[in-house]
Amino acid sequence: MQKTKEESKKLFIQTLGCQMNDTDSAHIIAELGEHNNYTTTDTMEDADLIIINTCSVREKPVQKLFSEIGQFNSKKKEGAKIGVCGCTASHLGKDIIKRAPYVDFVLGARNISKISKIIDQKGAVEIDIEHDDSTYEFARSETSLYKTSVNISIGCDKECTYCIVPATRGDEISIPPEMIIEQIKKDVLKGAIEVTLLGQNVNSYGRKFSDGRGKTTFTQLLHDISKIEGIERIRFTSPHPLHMDDEFIEEFARNPKISKCIHMPLQSGSTKILKAMKRGYSKEWFLNRAAKIRELVPEVRITTDIIVAFPGETQEDFDDTIDVINQVKFDQIFNFKYSPRPNTAALELKDQEIPDEIGSARLIQVIDLHKEHQSEHMRSNIGKTVKVLFESLKPNGEVSGFTDNWCQVYVKGSDELLGKIAEVKITSSTRTTLKGELVN
Ligand code: 5AD
Ligand code: SF4
Repeated sequence: MQKTKEESKKLFIQTLGCQMNDTDSAHIIAELGEHNNYTTTDTMEDADLIIINTCSVREKPVQKLFSEIGQFNSKKKEGAKIGVCGCTASHLGKDIIKRAPYVDFVLGARNISKISKIIDQKGAVEIDIEHDDSTYEFARSETSLYKTSVNISIGCDKECTYCIVPATRGDEISIPPEMIIEQIKKDVLKGAIEVTLLGQNVNSYGRKFSDGRGKTTFTQLLHDISKIEGIERIRFTSPHPLHMDDEFIEEFARNPKISKCIHMPLQSGSTKILKAMKRGYSKEWFLNRAAKIRELVPEVRITTDIIVAFPGETQEDFDDTIDVINQVKFDQIFNFKYSPRPNTAALELKDQEIPDEIGSARLIQVIDLHKEHQSEHMRSNIGKTVKVLFESLKPNGEVSGFTDNWCQVYVKGSDELLGKIAEVKITSSTRTTLKGELVN
């Protein structure tokens, strides 16, 4: 049936957290568009349905959630519904409705396929972490013409002792490769030339499927996706350093379609702390893997996540983290101060927690050191010619895009560049971006 403007209802959705949450929100928008006749609005006061899709990996988003839904409730249109989705929904469950009775429904991270039904069930709480969405064909919404992202797995089988994700997103199940490939092919027909593969732990892909089929590997999946005609760039996040075996690194280096930017979440440079975090690798393993990647792919950009002040982290342990930062010289560091989370094993280390002032000082030290490395890396691009996929037009007559190794580049140009890959000679840099001129 043709949808008219009058009939369509308005959805306001706010997303906090990781790329998995972004994809969940894209699924919510598409499902509600296709099955319930919703279109999105940026104005909360106009919405018939308000959804907050939140993250609970660190503490702040939880506090933010309650202050925000309180505000939404006081300003919303009469009769508008409020739903809370995502990891925080999974871990707080019905307590959300107890604490904020005006919330209409709560939908956990692994239960997103139930969105169309739950919006009409006042008081419903769906947070089953064993629910299996892995073969559900979500409706698709078009976010960017040139880029698409697909989930390749749900959940996480690791037990990192600081992390709430296994408790909110459940065990890892891989999405069948034929579904992933089919999805990417459909997106290519709509104009996508770059795909980002998403999962909590992408390079452990292929160990368990819903239908009990035999195992495959992430390397094989990368290989198969790169054969799809029309796909020029493949990105993925997040891989785990433990599973960066030689086969994976060699495919990463050899396959020209794989973007040469890799996330290697270090978390800590101390083998003792890595053990307490149950990360499964040592400082030496990490350094060895990073060195191998840099050796095979000299232009690679390496990004990382670091947690400072994990319980029991001595000055010596922290110095190990600084040492790894100095050796690897990461291109981007996402740094965090340890935050105790419910349902995590690290809570047992409460008596070894690090005073907040020490945590803050260590965080600043990491940030400052990283800034030096970032500027150095960006400056080293001046004079080089790089390939850029252009994707947005700026009001000042510049067009911006990303290099294959994920640096943002600006050039003077017009919308004719959008969706194209062109060569650019880099003329200047800031700590986070590059400027250049098109090479004819
Ligand atoms: N405290 C601080 N940082 C955390 N992360 C995950 N859990 C915690 C926590 N309890 C960080 C990790 C992870 C990133 C997504 O968030 O660095 O890689
Ligand atoms: Fe959390 Fe570790 Fe799984 Fe990443 S790999 S989601 S940090 S448990």
